[in-house]
Amino acid sequence: MRRNVIVGNWKMNKNKQEIITFVEEVNLGLGNTTGIEFGVCAPFIYLDAMDKNGILNIGAQNMHYEDSGAYTGEVSAQMLKELSVKYVIIGHSERRAYFNETDETVNLKVKKALEIGLIPIVCCGETLEEYEKGLTKEVVKSQMEKAFKDVESLENVVVAYEPIWAIGTGLSANSETANEICKYIREILNANFKEDVTIQYGGSVKPENIKEYLSMSDIDGALVGGASVKSEDFINLITNLA
Ligand code: PGA
Repeated sequence: MRRNVIVGNWKMNKNKQEIITFVEEVNLGLGNTTGIEFGVCAPFIYLDAMDKNGILNIGAQNMHYEDSGAYTGEVSAQMLKELSVKYVIIGHSERRAYFNETDETVNLKVKKALEIGLIPIVCCGETLEEYEKGLTKEVVKSQMEKAFKDVESLENVVVAYEPIWAIGTGLSANSETANEICKYIREILNANFKEDVTIQYGGSVKPENIKEYLSMSDIDGALVGGASVKSEDFINLITNLA
């Protein structure tokens, strides 16, 4: 089912006290919000410090696809589940670029997350070079088909379309263009699945432009990096949608 889902991705930022303060401020600032699902993806070691009874849903930024074993430094889906984690970002372009994430590992992680009962936020998006060569649709089609190979249902899945050239650069994609690609992703997925998936746009989303993106026909939510780190910005992201 399509729903409005706004998720922050803190990446490798913040310390424990800053996180505790953020959660307190957001609980106060967004306590009366209805109709929008929102959360933040914290670094692993701080997930346990998030307020499990607050209004913010908790997300992780990655996971391993095996249940357990000799995988030094890795964290399993079950470990996340134990800490009341709801979402897990899978296949973020930074993990694809710097940590050898491939379409195959994305697929293994998506299947494991669904098996354990986490909502995978599955990222796709083209590089600047691919964008300039007009390859965007080809790239996202391939990423989506591989990510959801042998997946039975998209009911508990969120997709994030994030053009890589728009991440952290301040160069947000034009809302019409972003919508065209989200629509295209929806069509590809509708060809193989009966559920209508929630699709986020990500890439330099800010309190000032979030409403415009979400007013588009095929953009249901946002995955937000830089503008999710300060509580004031995060609160404004959500209140500006009202
Ligand atoms: P940004 O990051 O909002 O800072 O561009 C988005 C993301 O990496 O998900």
